[in-house]
Amino acid sequence: MTNAARLDALLEPRLAALKQKSLYRLRRVLEGPQGPEVTLAGRRYLNFSSNDYLGLAAHPALAAATRRGLEEYGTGGGAAHLVTGHSRAHHAFEEELAAFTGRERALLFSSGYMANLGIASALLKRGDRVFEDRLNHASLLDAGLLSGARFARYDHADAADLKAHLGAAEETTLVMTDGVFSMDGDVAPLPELEQAAEATGAFLMVDDAHGFGVLGKSGRGSLEHHGLGADAVPVLMGTLGKACGGFGAFVAGSEALVESLIQSARTYIYTTAAPPALAEAGRAALQLVQNESWRREKLQALIARFRAGAAELGLALMESGTAIQPLIVGESADALALAAALQEQGILAVAIRPPTVPAGSARLRLTLTAAHSEAQVDRLLDALQQAGRG
Ligand SMILES: Cc1ncc(COP(=O)(O)O)c(C=O)c1O
Repeated sequence: MTNAARLDALLEPRLAALKQKSLYRLRRVLEGPQGPEVTLAGRRYLNFSSNDYLGLAAHPALAAATRRGLEEYGTGGGAAHLVTGHSRAHHAFEEELAAFTGRERALLFSSGYMANLGIASALLKRGDRVFEDRLNHASLLDAGLLSGARFARYDHADAADLKAHLGAAEETTLVMTDGVFSMDGDVAPLPELEQAAEATGAFLMVDDAHGFGVLGKSGRGSLEHHGLGADAVPVLMGTLGKACGGFGAFVAGSEALVESLIQSARTYIYTTAAPPALAEAGRAALQLVQNESWRREKLQALIARFRAGAAELGLALMESGTAIQPLIVGESADALALAAALQEQGILAVAIRPPTVPAGSARLRLTLTAAHSEAQVDRLLDALQQAGRG
């Protein structure tokens, strides 16, 4: 057998096992832009599986800003930020993000995954401690595990359990949590987590991938939602690929925090800067986040409409007030079957299965956006009823 054939012989049974357990993952090839309706294989579908919460991913202002950025800077970042990749576009966007989040500085990363890894690698060393919510996003869990610090999980959204784990310790201790839990849609109890961290000398870090731009009256996210400031949560991470409709992420905090990341976050230092045109797109998105609060208001109204309709149908939704409205199914095969039944009716609602969610809790992770209409939400409810869920 050739070297290549031996590798395939190793991998093929593993893939077959995934299929057999209904855990095989497939990509869908979209034709055209992201939005409340998308095209797959020439057919239009209502899309309830995106994180484009404010409906900005295909907004003309972002496209125009990207085009202007391409004209001015060309396509490639060209080098890492610490070499020659840091452009005026990146720099201006960082200053605007710092001002918006009310912090001294902000630092752009190429993705939220990389930002999380960078935070943990810069702040923690072997022998330090990191505590994470059991249902944190995989990128936070990976960040904690890869940091080399002692790693422990506390019960979901349970500040008392965190406090019991924390105790008092000499070592640097970081508590990392999603602001809005990505697969459940519930909001982390940040004030209680902050008190637990404060009482034990730990530092609190919030990953606000699903809150930034969406929560709070002015879109500042989970911290605004809870009335917390920079003093309470010194490390804030936000992503730009969800409510902001673009790509990338940032960390906002003090001068000392951001300089520490620049000096030692490996996922910042050892990678090419993202295209400057994407920073221009981000700047345009931030303007819309600030100036068009109607998007958050409309999204809230659609969430309320969906939840009221679901209650009438007797659907077992999770306790979530955010745009993420998971419908728990249980077994992976059943979740796939429900997604397929909805797809037949022209509704795209992707099944989320283990290991992304705990075993036995496969679900449809339904998401609403400000770009949906009331009629589209009603169609989703009708389709769920048709599929035997109501
Ligand atoms: C909570 C959370 N953190 C981080 C990320 C990663 O961000 P990015 O897609 O920018 O890598 C995601 C999802 O992608 C997420 O849901």
